[in-house]
Amino acid sequence: MERNSIKRVTKLISSYKSPSNIALVKYWGKKNKGTQLPANASISFTLSDLCATTTVEAMPCDEVLTEPSFMFQLNDLPKASFEPKIKAFLKRIWDNYSLLKTHRLFIRSSNNFPHGAGIASSAAGFSALALCMVDLQVQFSGTPLIDARREASRISRLGSGSACRSMFAEPGVWGETKHIEEACDEYAVPMTGMHESFKSWKDIVLIVDASEKSVSSTEGHQQLDNNIYAESRYLSAKKSMDLILDALKKHNLPTFIHTVESEALQLHAMMMVSPMHFILMEPNTLAIIQKIWTFRKETHLPLCFTLDAGANVHLLYDSREEDKIINFVENELLPLCSQKQYFCSNLGGNPIKLSTIEK
Ligand code: PMV
Repeated sequence: MERNSIKRVTKLISSYKSPSNIALVKYWGKKNKGTQLPANASISFTLSDLCATTTVEAMPCDEVLTEPSFMFQLNDLPKASFEPKIKAFLKRIWDNYSLLKTHRLFIRSSNNFPHGAGIASSAAGFSALALCMVDLQVQFSGTPLIDARREASRISRLGSGSACRSMFAEPGVWGETKHIEEACDEYAVPMTGMHESFKSWKDIVLIVDASEKSVSSTEGHQQLDNNIYAESRYLSAKKSMDLILDALKKHNLPTFIHTVESEALQLHAMMMVSPMHFILMEPNTLAIIQKIWTFRKETHLPLCFTLDAGANVHLLYDSREEDKIINFVENELLPLCSQKQYFCSNLGGNPIKLSTIEK
């Protein structure tokens, strides 16, 4: 009783920094039944240098709320366009997160890369927000969780599917696959046994177009529902998972490179052959891909590209060959980028809980 009255006057606070991620095998399409369940398994690397930092303050209120109440700021400014997704997320966790019924939330988020640089930030943002919500509910209920990170992965997918993979230093696997027993559709799990050689790989995000995407990923996923190629795509993704898991374990570079590039092209091919047939690549996206292929053919250096649902190109490469590769990027690829913009990140990296003493 006394404990409850203390809770009612004390605000709760939690803060996390979470990495973004880039998928090697893409999640594109949802299962028809269920909430945010993927049509196929996917796997990604976290991008430890491209992060979102989110702080949530939960203020006790006098009345019992009938729906989530929150204020949201991105980089210290209100950001109304993000509110519907956050509201949908909070509504989806409403039944199990009792603090939402008695607390109003003040959510502050910031990215360490400029917003509007064309880098998807929702995976990092929802990973950090989910970790905060799990932490706040634990603080509120006083009941610790056996696996808080798993729970955060589970709920983060209700905000943005790919966010559930932004939880581990190891590659994050989301969706059922016969190779990893504990892998499932509800949350992501870390892949164990990756070959040491991949630890020196990095990602350079080449900014071809810094503007907001013309088709959101929510709309993109929906387009799979009436896409005549959807079933073939899901079969192909399954095959890609088999190949990539094996290539990551054995450091089989030809298979790794071929599978990663095939997945990027399949993602965009599915957009083109969808009922609304849209294209998110730009002419310079293709020009960069051609340059990468030519450079790799000439040098045999360990590098490949992948794409997110947008025009920007991710260049994955082994940093043990960094000098030669950076030289190529600066001379041949940056002239094809918008304002020569790019962001470099190490791969791997866990979310970090931040101290809330000063916040
Ligand atoms: O998490 P969402 O709903 O924004 O979907 C992300 C889909 C891709 O980024 C294109 C692929 C992936 O697996 O991350």
